[in-house]
Amino acid sequence: MSVDLYKPGLEGVPAAKSSISYIDGTQGILEYRGIRIEDLAQNSSFLETAYLLIWGELPSQTELEAFEHDIRYHRRIKYRIRDMMKCFPESGHPMDALQASAAALGLFYSRRALDDPIYIRNAVIRLLAKIPTMVAAFQLIRKGNDPVQPRDDLSYAANFLYMLREQEPDPLAAHVFDVCLMLHAEHSINASTFSAMVTSSTLTDPYAVIASAVGTLGGPLHGGANEEVIEMLEEIGAVENAAAYLDNCIRQKRKIMGFGHRVYKVKDPRANILQDLAEQMFDRFGGDRYYEIAVELERLVEDRLGEKGIYANVDFYSGLVYRKLGIPTDLFTPLFAIARVAGWLAHWKEQLNENRIFRPTQIYVGQRDRVFVPRDKR
Ligand code: CMC
Repeated sequence: MSVDLYKPGLEGVPAAKSSISYIDGTQGILEYRGIRIEDLAQNSSFLETAYLLIWGELPSQTELEAFEHDIRYHRRIKYRIRDMMKCFPESGHPMDALQASAAALGLFYSRRALDDPIYIRNAVIRLLAKIPTMVAAFQLIRKGNDPVQPRDDLSYAANFLYMLREQEPDPLAAHVFDVCLMLHAEHSINASTFSAMVTSSTLTDPYAVIASAVGTLGGPLHGGANEEVIEMLEEIGAVENAAAYLDNCIRQKRKIMGFGHRVYKVKDPRANILQDLAEQMFDRFGGDRYYEIAVELERLVEDRLGEKGIYANVDFYSGLVYRKLGIPTDLFTPLFAIARVAGWLAHWKEQLNENRIFRPTQIYVGQRDRVFVPRDKR
């Protein structure tokens, strides 16, 4: 097989036919099931958007109410999962805790009936309902507290913030968080979604699918970048240091976190919405000195690297919003996971409709026909 066929990172190689999301990376367009992300962010809710992604159509009022009701009903997690989390080291990363807990869900719901629509619906409901509870539970457990039970009277977003911070959130904070979830819910075949699809293609259970995707999302080139953005802004420390920081990165060929994208060659449309949400949060709850550094860095990067198509991506402003929501930095990627579960499940369902196990090929570049040398002769 010709080596020319090989595309590192599978760049530009179609791996599926999909009708879940559409991206135009040169015009900065993102659509879920044909609806622009700006329209959804303005008018929808995370659960309605999740329904749209997974079932392909916006729900009627009755369908949405039933979906929200079922998710509310399944929010609690088994005490054994909580007990398992108590055995995790408190210094461990919450993404690792989430990956292990998501996989453990499969132990409780092990019946695998991928051709049964009720099994599919229940798995969707359980995963969407329980992942936020698991993220919040680990946060409290590692602080030495008991997890807080979900509150049925609160919306999906408000309940998560309540379980995490042990106090009912301000309505603006809950709304902003809900929009963040919508923005992160789906993004075609990125690394974690591909990981979910590969796992799905073996016809394993959906909990294993989500656990493998969570593991993939955690890396700094993917979902983990939002944490690194905050560390970078901390390191820059002041607006006047931004230019020197950027010069250094360019000289040392270091990536600037929160910039660049395999698909977008302009500013990510989600970054625009997140920047706007960050400003709404600052107007209401007071500013963040990192924001000025971020704006200056974005201006400089556009100026120096814009011609290479390197602009702010979704991770650049999301951390600033989360900071204002009072969320610890190492929970930023788990928040991304809470949202992306919707997209992963949509791809899982789509994959099942027309499944063929993923089994790519390789260009072998190693040696052949070697003779085994006995250990005492090496
Ligand atoms: N800072 C500086 N230069 C960059 C950056 C950046 N953030 N991103 C890409 N480049 C340069 C890169 O050095 C290379 O230049 P050259 O051709 O001169 O060697 C060129 O642009 C292509 O880069 P690449 O790494 O080959 O591009 P990719 O499509 O493989 O990677 C990426 C995409 C997102 C992994 C990369 O842009 C990156 O590492 N960005 C920083 C990490 C980050 O913000 N990740 C979040 C991505 S968006 C959300 C998500 O997927 O979770």
